[in-house]
Amino acid sequence: MPDFRYLDGEFHCESVPFRKIAEAVGTPCYVYSHARLVRQFRSFDAAFKDVPHITAYAIKANSNIAVLRLLAQEGAGADIVSGGELYRALQAGLMPQRIVFAGVGKTDEEIGYALHSDILMFNVESPAELLAIDRVAGELKTHARVALRINPDIDPKTHPYISTGLKKSKFGISAERAVDEFKLATTLKNIEIVGVHKHIGSQLMHVSPYVESLKKILDLVEQLKGIGVEIRYLNVGGGLGITYQDEIPPQPEDLAQAISPLLKDLKCVLIFEPGRSIVGNAGVLLIKVLYQQANPDKTFLIVDAAMNDLIRPSLYGAYHEIKPVQEAREKAKRKVLVDVVGPVCESGDFLAKDRMMPLGDPGDLLAVMSAGAYGFSMASNYNSRLRIPEVLVRDREIHVIRAREEYPDLIRGETIPAFLK
Ligand code: LLP
Repeated sequence: MPDFRYLDGEFHCESVPFRKIAEAVGTPCYVYSHARLVRQFRSFDAAFKDVPHITAYAIKANSNIAVLRLLAQEGAGADIVSGGELYRALQAGLMPQRIVFAGVGKTDEEIGYALHSDILMFNVESPAELLAIDRVAGELKTHARVALRINPDIDPKTHPYISTGLKKSKFGISAERAVDEFKLATTLKNIEIVGVHKHIGSQLMHVSPYVESLKKILDLVEQLKGIGVEIRYLNVGGGLGITYQDEIPPQPEDLAQAISPLLKDLKCVLIFEPGRSIVGNAGVLLIKVLYQQANPDKTFLIVDAAMNDLIRPSLYGAYHEIKPVQEAREKAKRKVLVDVVGPVCESGDFLAKDRMMPLGDPGDLLAVMSAGAYGFSMASNYNSRLRIPEVLVRDREIHVIRAREEYPDLIRGETIPAFLK
């Protein structure tokens, strides 16, 4: 069963018409397909079945605890970047022994929390962080397992904001300095070196940058052997792209095929950190047309979701396909050039620009596709807009996995000081 398709004239998620979801939950809302989530995870994980590995789902892509629970049940681990993500992971039932912690700015509190939770390892991004982890581990009378994140200086050929493996980026330790930093790590009492980590960028459309960067990392692993450092875990990061428009991204099997010849003699557990490729095309942002506005030069479709709900178009100029929920609209011959914009008070607030679309009427429902990754997880309350619900569809069932916020949620934690009372 296709996860998103027209059936009896209406766009469906699995066996549920989007119209029904709008009636039950209101718009805007995020809608995720259970079947698709499961299938994406399984197909990723199965591609590497011949090598010992952990598929550590990158929680930042979509961190709803129901999604995390589902993936935990499928055997996923987690890639986290904050104490908050660790909290979510543990609440959702992800096993600490399968959690890896990246990020350039881990605080002492976060390091302590992760040590207490006994996560698998820290992906350390700088020598200063290494010293901090050693110190906190000492204070807690424990030791920390670490991988050093290496910046291989490889161009992932993706959007500059989501490229992480170039020299000029803030992430990781440069390949030239790596051996020295590993040497430093061996001198630290509370540090146990267990791995090497790399992640070069997101929405990658080719496997060649993976292969190139992996070659560099394998050279390093050899050099480390020379100084007596045995690597047990090799983390190749995430980044596999998805189709937003008509791109043809590599599939997990393509990645497996491309890198397995390099890994033949390696006795390491591999770690993968896919985010977008698991959840991106499993989610849709369901929205409603509020108004049409035709200016002399431009027609606007004003909808009820905005950049605070889905920031990718505004932030990266990202393309998200928009499908009318009524099939008759989809089939309409007449299409017009429109900007699909939200109610936020910014010119940069748009979901689509100069898009040829059937012109919707107020009340029409639209599905913004490929919104499962970096959609809700990047949402904010800007303009004091309520964050929207998330819904998980499983065949005929609609499960609200996050409620729509209410006005009191907006001011929770805020206080008016006594002198103003
Ligand atoms: N591992 C690390 C260390 C990462 O920094 C990331 C993503 C991932 C794994 C997962 O990458 P993925 O498989 O999802 O490509 N907000 C941007 C994407 C930012 C990605 C940040 N790091 C977007 O909406 O396109």
